[in-house]
Amino acid sequence: MVDFSMVFPAGFLWGTATAAHQVEGGSPPNNWTRWEEAGRVFRQQRAGLACDWWGGRYAEDFERAAELHNNAHRFSVEWSRVEPEPGRYDDAALQHYADMVSALHARGLAPLITLHHFSNPLWIEDQGGWTNPATIGHFERFVQRVVEALGGGVSTWCTINEPMVYATQGYLFGYFPPGARSFGQTIRVAENLLRAHAAAYHAIKALQPDAQVGLAKHQIALKPGFPALVHRRALNIVDNFFNRAFVHALTTGTLRFPSRTVSVPEARDTLDWIGLNYYYRFRVTFNLLAPRQLFLRQARPRDGIPGPGDTGEIWPEGLFGEIKRLFEMTGKPLYITENGVPDIDDSIRPLALIRSLRSVWQAINHNYPVRGYFFWSLVDNFEWAEGYDPRFRFGLYGCDAETQQRVKRRSADLYGEIGAANALTAEMVRRYVPGQAEALFPGVKVKSSVELPQP
Ligand code: BGC
Repeated sequence: MVDFSMVFPAGFLWGTATAAHQVEGGSPPNNWTRWEEAGRVFRQQRAGLACDWWGGRYAEDFERAAELHNNAHRFSVEWSRVEPEPGRYDDAALQHYADMVSALHARGLAPLITLHHFSNPLWIEDQGGWTNPATIGHFERFVQRVVEALGGGVSTWCTINEPMVYATQGYLFGYFPPGARSFGQTIRVAENLLRAHAAAYHAIKALQPDAQVGLAKHQIALKPGFPALVHRRALNIVDNFFNRAFVHALTTGTLRFPSRTVSVPEARDTLDWIGLNYYYRFRVTFNLLAPRQLFLRQARPRDGIPGPGDTGEIWPEGLFGEIKRLFEMTGKPLYITENGVPDIDDSIRPLALIRSLRSVWQAINHNYPVRGYFFWSLVDNFEWAEGYDPRFRFGLYGCDAETQQRVKRRSADLYGEIGAANALTAEMVRRYVPGQAEALFPGVKVKSSVELPQP
């Protein structure tokens, strides 16, 4: 038996992902700065300087990404900077983003730009945010401005990050701004986000016909509580609502929720690619008293690793199934637009990364067209409602928002070796997670005793 390598396709994109409000620092008034001021974040924290990317530290962090042999990076544009007041666009802010795009190109990193990642200008929020259909037109004009300003250097766009996370966290669980708890509003927001995606898709294509436009969809892996027969119905409800409905609408133009079916014909076939954001697996138990929690519990880890707080278990093998079904639903190429684990000590991240990439590689070898992998995240950053809670540090590099010091974690070395080789090898596995190699790759210990004939 020869030693094992999981080689990725030529041209595969290796990158990391970030979002504006989480890394830039000093955001102008938006829904999150207001949420922070209202004390709704872990220990009343504020994003503050974050990773100081607005102050220019993006350049040194892009340098780090390049040192890790990355060839791509995903970042988002902050709407409240580009359009601080309705119809007033800030050219200096657009120039800043154009500079970031150039800084990526200068280091051989292809940009993938997200146009909405959880944050809205306050003026949008004050007119009802995404419950108000007028937001769709405002978003479309903002997107046009950004594409006009950056389009020369960007060909891959992500319209909206995680529409169902945004809708449920902000309008059902009340955990994100504006903190509503209403099924009706949740559904209205999802519907408006779908229309906004469609409007953005068509607007980008009109300006840049060759652009590749997609959306990042957060998928959760689910397993039924025991006995499965009882709980599987609840699982199907959650699965349809959270994982399937929006994706289905992007291909068919019909958004189907249990209480409401809406036709959005302009959304039909509005994907050139689909992004998968994948983190956790949950157990679903039917509990009539907990529909607002979507019947979700952290799964009892067996093959997985317990996640912090109310999150699910970390179960990297779920990637395969989510890739498979996103492809089956859309027929489009995929990017893993986010995948990562919160782990300040970096004690589980190397293993989770290896298991995740094994799962992605297996999917590729089943011929699912995965074109790239964006690890969440490059540096520790402001984790939304969790703020700077030490249990929620996602970076390949640690980052202290106060001192701005970065610390390289071992996972960064591992990710760099993978990018350089365009492969995950058994030898890397032995070095980074000693003792796990045989369990992960049966047979790797047996070295070849037969010399292969030289060509
Ligand atoms: C979001 C990121 C977030 C990450 C880790 C994703 O749902 O897109 O902004 O930081 O999860 O929790």
